[in-house]
Amino acid sequence: MLRAIRWIAYGLVLLSAVFWASVWLNGGVPEIALRAAEAVGLIAPAPGGTQAQAAPLQVGGPFTLTDQTGKTVTDADFRGKWMLIYFGYSFCPDVCPTELQTISAVLDKMGEAAKQLVPVFITVDPARDTPAALGEYLKLFDDRLVGLTGSSEQIADVARRYRVYYAKVAAVKAPGSRDGAETDGTYLMDHSSFLYLVGPDGRFRALFRQGMDVDALAAEIGQRMAAGS
Ligand code: NI
Repeated sequence: MLRAIRWIAYGLVLLSAVFWASVWLNGGVPEIALRAAEAVGLIAPAPGGTQAQAAPLQVGGPFTLTDQTGKTVTDADFRGKWMLIYFGYSFCPDVCPTELQTISAVLDKMGEAAKQLVPVFITVDPARDTPAALGEYLKLFDDRLVGLTGSSEQIADVARRYRVYYAKVAAVKAPGSRDGAETDGTYLMDHSSFLYLVGPDGRFRALFRQGMDVDALAAEIGQRMAAGS
């Protein structure tokens, strides 16, 4: 026992000597010694950490939301199918209806392959888009659409994961109103507008900008699904 402690002491003295000798020879603390010291917790990692590269930008991820029937659903419930996700809200006066029509047309265009693709509409306006309101709204476009809502925290979380921007803005009152108020008390949601393709493993695959041609969109999604990429 005593002998073991003595050998450990010798070892530490030797390591220390090697360390300071290398400092002297290199004109500074060598990189490997710094990394070793960080690894054992002797010193704090340098700013920026020891990893050579920052993590790649992540899009997508887990969520827990409520569908238009009132059922709690998570991202895991969609495993095995592809998802085409759009973020919007039912009071949207222009862009959302157009994109929902596009999604419906893409599914029609894809034919049989569309059975493996679930179109998902996630609201950025959960205060007004209750499950029932979403259900009524989405029926106007396509029965295949799954509408998802949730608490404002749940929506904020899934929007953050998908890098979706949204913000409440007061609706401007119709021209000609004379009471001096600039808004009528209602609001619109400013929001980013992209389609997200998510694979059957739950990983994000592709981003499509709004206003894409139905044929081009159907072709690209169909190719990715066929290739599994
Ligand atoms: Ni919209």
